[in-house]
Amino acid sequence: MENTHNFILPPKNLIGSGAIKDLPNELLSWKLSKVLIVTDKNMISLGYVENVEKILKSLFISYDIFDGILHPNPTVSFVEDGLTYLNKGLNVFKRNYNLIISIGGGTNHDCAKAIATVATNGGSIIDYEGYNKITKLGIPQIAINTTAGSGAELTMYSIIVDESRKVKMVISSPFLTPFISVNDPIFMTTMPKEVTASSGIDVVSHAIEAYVSTEASPITDSLALEALKLVFEYLPRSYDNGNDLEAREKMMFANIMAGMAFNNAGLGYVHCMAHQLGGFYEQSHGDYNAVLLPYVFEFNSVSIPEQRILKLCEALGTITHNTSQAVGLIIDSVDKLRSKLEIPSKLSAMGLKESDIETLSQNALKDICFFTNPRQGLLEDIISLYKAAF
Ligand SMILES: [Fe+2]
Repeated sequence: MENTHNFILPPKNLIGSGAIKDLPNELLSWKLSKVLIVTDKNMISLGYVENVEKILKSLFISYDIFDGILHPNPTVSFVEDGLTYLNKGLNVFKRNYNLIISIGGGTNHDCAKAIATVATNGGSIIDYEGYNKITKLGIPQIAINTTAGSGAELTMYSIIVDESRKVKMVISSPFLTPFISVNDPIFMTTMPKEVTASSGIDVVSHAIEAYVSTEASPITDSLALEALKLVFEYLPRSYDNGNDLEAREKMMFANIMAGMAFNNAGLGYVHCMAHQLGGFYEQSHGDYNAVLLPYVFEFNSVSIPEQRILKLCEALGTITHNTSQAVGLIIDSVDKLRSKLEIPSKLSAMGLKESDIETLSQNALKDICFFTNPRQGLLEDIISLYKAAF
């Protein structure tokens, strides 16, 4: 029986309070001539970009800053603006950028991955939608993460909205994996409450979807279960007090572990449905996941082995030998956490229009996260799930 599992991660991951201090050592060996920083104006005003500028200046590395990521939904326009900026830089200085440093949350990392890819592969980022369409390495990327989180700083995914089709594209290739990820909780203390909530519950959906995925392995299982234990204990604390460094640090680890799990096990219907909502409306990605997760979990539960449901329930704090009780407890725990984080309970409160459900469902069937869901449904099933969460 063929049953193989590749395990993909950045070659280097700097982790923990003060991890950013290790970055100069890493850069020393690169013989860099020019760096492009990809970020947004908020990261500049928080002083995070200046931290990196100081490091580059101390090593006499020249750099430019593209800060044209204007809102938290990554779009083809931002990627194209970044490429225009990058090409203008080439014309003026006649030197190639040989490193991209993204600073921020998932949106900035995903846009930077797309810019780095198109810069060397050519065409448009739309050409690479789907799995393994990229044929060459992009410009190497270092991703300095400020949320906990999308996991984007260490994954082989780039999620970009094609505004012309209103589709949130999933682009997946090992070539998208950043060369170095940096997760330093000091960069996470300024996350606003709603970002802490939305990105934190995204970690729950990553861990649960990776755990129940058809591509799960004992490695991704242990990462996913440990991530869940941490989120349920420390997300309420970091939501209540953003300066609670211990809680921020534990959430940072939860983000890394869930990111490692889903990067290698894949995701499921929660994400393929949330991606489509992100193509149509403006609510944060994690908020859509928070609402969809209980409905999708209940739908999937008949296809998840009983022992695995019981283990998942145990990770959330309750030991039971009754599977249907465990399903109820898991759904309840997710729902209570969503409510604690003040995220609405229905998609209608997040902009969903009933008349869009059919199109959203058809688009969800084409999302690559569809294929690793434990229960394969039909168009009508996806429509019913959107309607139940409406
Ligand atoms: Fe996500």
